[in-house]
Amino acid sequence: MSEIVCLCKGISEDTIVEAIKNGAKSVEEVKEATGATTGFCKGGRCKGKIEELIKEN
Ligand code: FES
Repeated sequence: MSEIVCLCKGISEDTIVEAIKNGAKSVEEVKEATGATTGFCKGGRCKGKIEELIKEN
C-alpha cells in the first residue's frame, strides 16, 4: 500500500501518480482527476507533496 498523500480525502500516492501518468500536469489537473486538495484543509497538507510528485513523474 502506498502512502496517503491527501489525508482529508484519503487519496494515496499511487492514485496521484496514476493521474499524472494519465496526463495531469498541474495540481489543478490532479485535483480534477482525483479530488485531492478538495478536503477540509483545502490542500494545505497535500499540495506540496502533489507538486513534488508532478516533478518526479
Ligand atoms: S490533505 Fe488534501 S485537502 Fe487536506
